[in-house]
Amino acid sequence: MSTSATQAPRTDAERMADPNWWRQAAVYQIYPRSFADSNGDGIGDIQGITAKVPYLKELGIDAVWLSPFYPSALADGGYDVDDYRNVDPKLGTLEDFDEMAAALHAAGIKLVADIVPNHSSDRHEWFKEALASPKGSAARERYIFRDGKGENGELPPSDWDSVFGGPVWERITEPDGTPGQWYMHIFAKEQPDFNWDNPEVREDFLKTLRFWSDRGVDGFRIDVAHGMAKDLSEPMPMKADLAARAHGTDGFVDGSHPFWDRDEVHEVYAEWRKLFNEYNPPRTAVAEAWVHESRRARYASPEGLGQAFNFDLLQADFDAPSFRKIITENLIAAKETGASSTWVFSNHDVVRHATRYGLPKGGSVAQGTNAAQDISSTKPKGQDGKGWLLAGAPAEELDVELGLRRARAATLLMLALPGSAYLYQGEELGLREVTEIPDSERQDPSFFRNPGVEIGRDGCRVPLPWTADGPSFGFGQDRAHLPQPEWFARYAVSEQEGVEGSTLEFYRRALRLRSELQADEELEWVETGNQDVLHFSRPGGWDTVTNFGTEPFELPAGTVVVSSGPLEDGLLPADTSAWVVRDA
Ligand code: GLC
Ligand code: CA
Repeated sequence: MSTSATQAPRTDAERMADPNWWRQAAVYQIYPRSFADSNGDGIGDIQGITAKVPYLKELGIDAVWLSPFYPSALADGGYDVDDYRNVDPKLGTLEDFDEMAAALHAAGIKLVADIVPNHSSDRHEWFKEALASPKGSAARERYIFRDGKGENGELPPSDWDSVFGGPVWERITEPDGTPGQWYMHIFAKEQPDFNWDNPEVREDFLKTLRFWSDRGVDGFRIDVAHGMAKDLSEPMPMKADLAARAHGTDGFVDGSHPFWDRDEVHEVYAEWRKLFNEYNPPRTAVAEAWVHESRRARYASPEGLGQAFNFDLLQADFDAPSFRKIITENLIAAKETGASSTWVFSNHDVVRHATRYGLPKGGSVAQGTNAAQDISSTKPKGQDGKGWLLAGAPAEELDVELGLRRARAATLLMLALPGSAYLYQGEELGLREVTEIPDSERQDPSFFRNPGVEIGRDGCRVPLPWTADGPSFGFGQDRAHLPQPEWFARYAVSEQEGVEGSTLEFYRRALRLRSELQADEELEWVETGNQDVLHFSRPGGWDTVTNFGTEPFELPAGTVVVSSGPLEDGLLPADTSAWVVRDA
């Protein structure tokens, strides 16, 4: 790794062959159904992505992470997979996939696929077979079936709640028509959990990982990586006992929860790592694991997945001391395992950061919830009560301008941090959460399972605006599968391209500079004497200053190469970040 800010830029081929490409990559998440629709059926597709490779190249990202594109009835936005080794016909074919991978690679962009190992969909061949087969059969052993409690098995095996609301158990009708066993689903009932104690399940996933690796997938994002391993030995604990044993809202610290973050899950990842390392460069993996911070390192270890998401900044208020603490702790933790840290502000599960930062400050603002109602306290989500940021924000409380200013400032800070930065489609346009979706158009299961409590995640999944007009703002030739608001016109790519100061041009500039300036994964804090201003230096004389306060702040000497908003008389205004390169 070079230590100088003036290193010669590497060629695409050099970057692509580098086994460490992921360590400081800018990874752009595509939610395929909402990115670009090539055939006008209202659903984004693979050919749509291929057509936008020049856009991705111009944006300056290193990798694309593709949310699930597998055949699916979309009970949970594609995270209910019918067939792990195929492409949803609504999105295209395997040939389309190969073309997309080739186009990305030719543009010097890596491809990360989303793998959903905790559960399949209820339309998966194996699950259909399990339902058609008798109790105790090998087919049932691939999932988690149990007899019910009560005289006739009419009560669920335990009182646990699923993440989307309602019980984790669903009763089936046996092939002979009688009420039968119950199966476990941590998420929606259309998402039956696999039995990871079954070698056949393990084998099948190895086959899937090999299938996509052979097709040129460079890395994997592991969905619910802290699920999978389960201890359902009797007596199963009551949910009240589990809640009492949890470490605040941060989950269990000892791996003793019956289905979250158990130690055995790492045996699976050790096996996967061996497979990943058979490839050159080795396939990478990043864990989606909403676990207590003390337990995150194991997911990120080199013998395991190699990297794990940290959602700490995403859950924090826009506040200097919180940011500093989170950054410091995560860099230390990453160093201990040899991983690099990850950073993220927005994804397909949370209220967009341009909205979160525009809400009045208060307990629940960081969670994107209505200030009057903190979902995390009323309804624990999964294990930790805050892994799911599903609620919407009332539009009238939102300061749109402030939200975007802060979002841009936070993003510029993130892009200067050592480690990988994960960006979510549309944030480069400054999109905020869409709150105007009528109930009748909503799709997310969390909306239907929690009537009146959650509005679900559709607001961050609305198809992108590419042009200021047209039936779906250039997303496709017709209406989009989720309604787009009028205000999308102003945020369209066409309106921002080449426009000085637009959010798109700001992202492009920052990403290009990032790849030029990035060197060793070191960061040094510079004391500013102002608790609302953060300043850190990276090797090569690259300084980042963020003003979280209200008063303009004087920047260090050097050239301001990019700022998240205009400077005022040479000073850094409130809610703004700047990169300063020290003059040689
Ligand atoms: C992950 C995904 C989320 C999905 C859930 C169940 O957390 O990010 O979108 O609903 O897993 O698969
Ligand atoms: Ca389409």
